[in-house]
Amino acid sequence: MARKRFPLLILVCTMIMSLVLPGLTWSTNEKNTQEEAKPPFYPSLINTHTGKPVKSTEFTSPDICSGCHVEIYKQWKGSMHSHAYVDPIFHALWKIGSKKTNGFTDKLCAGCHTGIGTVSEEIIMKDGEFQVSEIAKKGVQCDLCHTIVESTFLKTPTHEPQNASISVEPGNIKRGPYKDSKSSFHETAYSKLHTTSKFCANCHHVFHPVTNFHIERTYDEWKYSVYAQKGIQCQDCHMVPIEQAIETARTLTKQKNPGKAAFTGPERDQVYTHEFVGGNFTVTKLLGSDKHAEIAKKRLKNAAELTLNPPDSVERGTLATLSVKVTNIGAGHNLPTSLTEVRQMWLEFLVTDAKGTIIYHSGKLDKAGNIDPQAKIFNAKSVDIDGKHTYKPWEMNRFEYNNTIPPKGSSTTGYTFLVTKDIKGPLLVKATLRYRSYPQSLANLLLGKDAITLPIVDMAQKEATLLVNK
Ligand code: HEC
Ligand code: HEC
Ligand code: HEC
Ligand code: HEC
Ligand code: HEC
Repeated sequence: MARKRFPLLILVCTMIMSLVLPGLTWSTNEKNTQEEAKPPFYPSLINTHTGKPVKSTEFTSPDICSGCHVEIYKQWKGSMHSHAYVDPIFHALWKIGSKKTNGFTDKLCAGCHTGIGTVSEEIIMKDGEFQVSEIAKKGVQCDLCHTIVESTFLKTPTHEPQNASISVEPGNIKRGPYKDSKSSFHETAYSKLHTTSKFCANCHHVFHPVTNFHIERTYDEWKYSVYAQKGIQCQDCHMVPIEQAIETARTLTKQKNPGKAAFTGPERDQVYTHEFVGGNFTVTKLLGSDKHAEIAKKRLKNAAELTLNPPDSVERGTLATLSVKVTNIGAGHNLPTSLTEVRQMWLEFLVTDAKGTIIYHSGKLDKAGNIDPQAKIFNAKSVDIDGKHTYKPWEMNRFEYNNTIPPKGSSTTGYTFLVTKDIKGPLLVKATLRYRSYPQSLANLLLGKDAITLPIVDMAQKEATLLVNK
């Protein structure tokens, strides 16, 4: 029965797709109809062990896990994983996507942002708002991650983990890193997958479902880095206290974090923490998780290093040139990573003379909060099929450029300015590497104008003094 229905379903999907995404050539069109059936929650690649929907009541709420895993629960609550569904930035874009693609993107986005809502097929669009059960609102949660039984990456179009290529089996068995773990509340099982970056990769690899264009590729960036060569996984930086993550990046060796996994459990040589902090100090703070916001700031402040190579002096009436080198010392992937088309990491470069007069200024903000268009910014510019700039994932066809900085790699920018005859030396040069989660214009679009003035973190700063010769 089910088998017979699939070709029809695919045909309908193809027709809808060609209507809603006219700009995109579906070159694999014919091939797809002959290939094996699409996964049940397509375009998300998430699946269940039976290949059928399950009820959301088959999953246990984090509130229950918190009874014994007290610390882990406190760490997870307030994380971006716990906010993955309620995140207002996500929600706003998800709703726009739903409208623009006649619902095609609903499950795609939900598969990663609320896996439980997706496999229970509970997501309803009503009066312009998405509705799901209470448990599905808790985003990427305990019982989703710990009932993941496999990564189905071999079945994806690129044979890479992507678009929630996981299979979940809700039930009594909780899977994790221990081979000898015992709990009176649930059964346990060892899962090697949970101890590797491949686990995270299933969701931290966002591909356009039609063109397979890599929109977010954190896992790939990591996979070809020195961190991967040294066996340092995502978990070793994002599931340990921040001080240890900084040490791991500096020394390229894993740090130990002994403790208890459950308050009734034994002392362990190693427990992994669950804050899952990246660079987001905006939404975490907005939703009241100050602790997570502070860790994010600390992480950003230890991710990069600036080097200035100033000459000792400059001549009046000539052009002076200075370079600023930005090195990615702390991130196990590109800097910035993931939503590289949205995140803003840029250089502010300021030269003042002894009277405080501004001689040169690059990378400042205007009154509306927009960054100087001439500024050096490390990001990717995403465009649609016609080469028009777009932030909408479903429209993205390619990156016009991507100048994010690879792990342990660096990027150098030169600045040239005129040392006028009447300048009063010495000159003070100040370079600052700044980070903001989104362009102000995008925040205004998604959250409403004047909804929030985006905070900025200064990741690194360097100063130099230049003598001015006669
Ligand atoms: C493969 C899993 C996956 C899919 C599919 C996916 N996302 Fe995400 N999304 C993520 C991850 C992981 C992040 C966090 C990346 C980061 O913070 O750098 C994220 C972050 C975001 C953010 C930024 C949130 C913030 O507060 O900064 C937005 C907006 C977003 N996603 C929207 C969408 C939309 C809309 C879709 C569907 C068209 C979608 N996502 C599909 C995994 C996914
Ligand atoms: C009644 C107490 C209790 C509750 C409630 C509880 N657990 Fe546990 N859990 C434990 C104990 C005890 C251990 C063993 C810890 C150890 O071995 O160090 C454990 C171990 C685990 C492990 C490690 C398994 C392994 O083999 O690596 C995971 C994962 C886990 N629990 C997840 C959960 C999740 C998810 C929930 C909620 C759905 C939950 N637990 C609810 C007591 C509990
Ligand atoms: C994004 C997926 C994810 C979420 C959400 C998540 N965990 Fe985990 N958890 C992991 C991974 C991965 C590991 C193993 C890390 C390793 O060993 O490398 C782990 C380890 C554990 C362990 C073993 C002890 C330890 O900390 O190493 C327990 C117990 C546990 N988690 C319980 C929970 C509970 C309870 C929640 C919810 C409050 C939760 N987890 C949420 C992915 C997750
Ligand atoms: C089931 C899908 C899923 C899995 C598995 C998963 N993540 Fe995520 N992760 C997400 C989504 C979705 C977000 C973004 C939420 C948002 O911004 O709205 C996110 C956000 C994050 C962030 C916060 C990013 C920021 O901007 O601050 C970090 C860090 C992170 N994940 C690390 C990990 C690590 C490490 C693992 C593996 C142990 C992992 N994730 C596994 C879906 C997942
Ligand atoms: C050597 C430590 C290290 C490793 C390994 C590492 N990260 Fe990160 N990660 C960082 C640092 C530092 C940041 C903050 C700077 C930034 O945003 O890139 C970060 C940021 C992030 C963000 C937020 C990016 C943003 O700006 O929105 C996500 C998502 C993330 N990491 C996921 C992962 C995943 C998935 C892996 C494994 C494939 C991983 N990380 C491996 C150190 C690490």
